[in-house]
Amino acid sequence: MSPSSLTRVTVPAVRARKVRNGNEPLVMVTAYDAPGARIADEAGVDLILIGDSVAMVVLGYDDTLQVTIEDMAHHVAAVARAKPRPLLIGDMPWMSYHVSLKDTVRNAAKLIKAGAHAVKLEGGRKRVPMIQAIIDAEIPVMGHLGLTPQSINAMGGYRVQGRKPEAAFALLDDARALEEAGCFAIVLEGVPDEVARMVTDTINVPTIGIGAGAHCDGQVLVFHDVLGIEDRITPKFVRRYASLKRDAVSAMAAFAADVRAGRFPSADESYHLSSEQAEALGLYGGGGAGPVQARSA
Ligand code: KIV
Repeated sequence: MSPSSLTRVTVPAVRARKVRNGNEPLVMVTAYDAPGARIADEAGVDLILIGDSVAMVVLGYDDTLQVTIEDMAHHVAAVARAKPRPLLIGDMPWMSYHVSLKDTVRNAAKLIKAGAHAVKLEGGRKRVPMIQAIIDAEIPVMGHLGLTPQSINAMGGYRVQGRKPEAAFALLDDARALEEAGCFAIVLEGVPDEVARMVTDTINVPTIGIGAGAHCDGQVLVFHDVLGIEDRITPKFVRRYASLKRDAVSAMAAFAADVRAGRFPSADESYHLSSEQAEALGLYGGGGAGPVQARSA
């Protein structure tokens, strides 16, 4: 039985997964297309985040600020078509929830209509009105605190957040605000593990860490990082479980070498006429085989 034929992971099931209550840590990975969704599904992950990291790892942009809600809906739909078992979280891109509440809800709904079961957005207390409006429309929301890549310009780069006591307490306050607003889980990105632990111990919904140490209720990594498809940057918090970029380059180079040496395609990798069809084309005329060697298909 494939994982996708088992019961789907639901929002209430994720909300209940605090490690301190005896649960296993949650596993979330990003995916951006149907093959990625199938890989994550067959590997048995709990949640798939269709992250705005698609901008950098798939679409070639330098940051996540370039993707639109339409781009995100396109990738959510591709993932959803694979009908995977994990819960599908659609990431709301920059400027899709920094607008009126009406437009915020409309944008969140675009991701749900594309096939997501919930949305994620970045930011703390000041995003509470948007979160509440989305939840009022029956759309579950995952929060995202700490190093929030959509704030790269405001933060002055990708920097670990919450190192100073006032920043750590502000982060804790933001986490409480998101929980009160109704977020069912919160991503903690790029924060010291002691601070992630403080947040995880304080709030009652699961924290899912990336670069936030081992004390969160779950962990998330980017698909291309786990598989070693992205090999240009290796952040400290990434563990690569494969070297698919290296394997792909050598596979592609072997294909190129075979073509150039005339080793590809072989007769077995080609279609052939039956001897009657070849004869009808006159390929055996004059007592010799023509340019195509006839063989029954
Ligand atoms: O877009 C993304 O990949 C993310 C994760 C890093 C949590 O937001």
